[in-house]
Amino acid sequence: MSKLFEPLFINKMEIKNRFVRSATVDNLGKDQIVSEAQLDFYRELAKGQVGLIVSSGLFPSLDGWAAPGQLGIHSDDMLPSLKKITDTVHNNGGKICAQLMHAGWFGNPGLCGFQTVGPTAMVNPANNLSVRELSSDEMEEKVNELISAGARAREAGFDAVQIHAAHGWLVSAILSPVTNKRQDKWGGSAENRASFVVKAVEGIRKEVGPDYPVLIKLGLKEYHPEGKSVEEGIRTAKMFIAAGLDAIEVSEGVEEIPFHHIRPDAASPYYLDECGEARKAISKPLILVGGMRYLPEIMNVVDSDTADAVSMCRPFINDQHIVRKFQEGATDKSSCISCNKCIQEMQLQNLHCVFNDRLINY
Ligand SMILES: Cc1cc2nc3c(=O)[nH]c(=O)nc-3n(C[C@H](O)[C@H](O)[C@H](O)COP(=O)(O)O)c2cc1C
Ligand code: SF4
Repeated sequence: MSKLFEPLFINKMEIKNRFVRSATVDNLGKDQIVSEAQLDFYRELAKGQVGLIVSSGLFPSLDGWAAPGQLGIHSDDMLPSLKKITDTVHNNGGKICAQLMHAGWFGNPGLCGFQTVGPTAMVNPANNLSVRELSSDEMEEKVNELISAGARAREAGFDAVQIHAAHGWLVSAILSPVTNKRQDKWGGSAENRASFVVKAVEGIRKEVGPDYPVLIKLGLKEYHPEGKSVEEGIRTAKMFIAAGLDAIEVSEGVEEIPFHHIRPDAASPYYLDECGEARKAISKPLILVGGMRYLPEIMNVVDSDTADAVSMCRPFINDQHIVRKFQEGATDKSSCISCNKCIQEMQLQNLHCVFNDRLINY
């Protein structure tokens, strides 16, 4: 019997199976207010039996805002919208985790009115935007904004909170030797670069209490010639656990090929090797994301104990009920072909799978 449909505890939170919907910016909000389309999407994910839904990336401060229809968690004014999301998921039997996502060098100056920020001044090769270097005091401010956002997540009724520390966005850029060239206490050694996340985890833990699940989506390794190794990723992950972290969603960090974490040829799990390495050193729950489409392969990830749970993004854009269909034996593979055309639709504020003419498919 596969463990895939057995419950899992992350701290005191029990999820009903080992499927996680990985964070997905849907860009479907209006003026930072939740839309009916967003609520419909969350409702169907919950009805479709996903064990844990991670929200769209929510910006913890305005300078981390990337897409016009994205929602924030930077102010108490956001609470009514966020509560509508958590109520919708809970009323349909689901659990939901808030993802705190500061865009860093993927910020949108035309939208938020701020130059993009990062640990070191440089040009982002993916969009040619120049990054303003945060001062040491501003780094502290960014930690505090994450802590306040973590407290707000709990207040809004989320079952858990996740720090986005992957894919080159702000927190991941701070962790990376490619994008963090600072000489002060926030740069240099792996430990100094990791201190930002250590402080954020400690601060969030203090705000939310001992039982509340605190997760991270972590770029364990960087697919970049000057990037960090999996050994460094695991070493720093242990520091975050010591600071109070409960679970790690394994992804990649700063990328040489932009958006390498959303591969157009995804047909099998991306990060099996690094997750397997992490498993030897980390007993807290590991959640593997990226490229999972076939049920036998997904089962193997969990049953081989490489990870405790699996996380998917595009298969849920394609079909919000894919987990229910797996469970009922209706299919053993997602019909998502990883063509990435839904990303263009998301940018046009019309997220859907191009092989279906509407957002909700089941
Ligand atoms: C439309 C879209 C939006 C995404 N938004 C986020 C996000 O808000 N936060 C995040 O951590 N990853 C985001 N991702 C990355 C996914 O969570 C996931 O890591 C990646 O797509 C690989 O998983 P998959 O092969 O199952 O799609 C996004 C991906 C897509 C396609
Ligand atoms: S458009 Fe559809 S098939 Fe293509 S990646 Fe997106 S969800 Fe998958």
